[in-house]
Amino acid sequence: MSARLVVLVSGAGSNLQALLDACTDPAYGAAVVAVGADRVGAGGVERARSAGVPAFELPLEAASSRADWDAALTERVAAHAPDLVVSAGFLKLAGETFLARFGGRFVNTHPALLPSFPGMHAPRDALAYGVKVTGATLFVVDAGVDTGPIVAQVAVPVADDDDKATLHERIKVAEREMLVEYVGRIARSGFTLDGRKVTIP
Ligand code: GAR
Repeated sequence: MSARLVVLVSGAGSNLQALLDACTDPAYGAAVVAVGADRVGAGGVERARSAGVPAFELPLEAASSRADWDAALTERVAAHAPDLVVSAGFLKLAGETFLARFGGRFVNTHPALLPSFPGMHAPRDALAYGVKVTGATLFVVDAGVDTGPIVAQVAVPVADDDDKATLHERIKVAEREMLVEYVGRIARSGFTLDGRKVTIP
């Protein structure tokens, strides 16, 4: 039976699209059963609907408090009974309620080689620092900002003439491939956690 994925997005949703495409192969072992966004009109929501996947929009601004938003997000996601929740360009931090429900089965993809350049502006920060190699990281979400145990990483070279957009686009090509590979492996085999060490059997 396919693992049930709920994917959270904020923007264009190219990582979501890569997962939707991968899931069309039954051997992949996963199905995107719902998509959630923290804003109205995210490209990822359109992609979900085009693929026939139910999608919901839950802006933080529409909630009376951060805690209420977090509780609502938890309920909306839980309604789809996910085996794994994937944050794929979801630009909000999930709160305590969400982590209590989905901790250990909630992964996030980030456009840098963590622990370097956490936060919202990783490609810009990597360029500003002058690194020659950056990349993407898939990790198990914990209560910190991009601090959770690392599932997978992929390295990407920085070109001399990169700006943050060209660098981010190069990262995203490698990131999508990593995301598809490792979400599939987790869907098919699960993973174990020993301290910070993640192992996929
Ligand atoms: C991805 O590069 C993802 O790692 C990044 O947003 C992009 C979303 O692209 N996430 C973060 O920066 C989170 N801190 P997409 O909407 O095309 O999938």
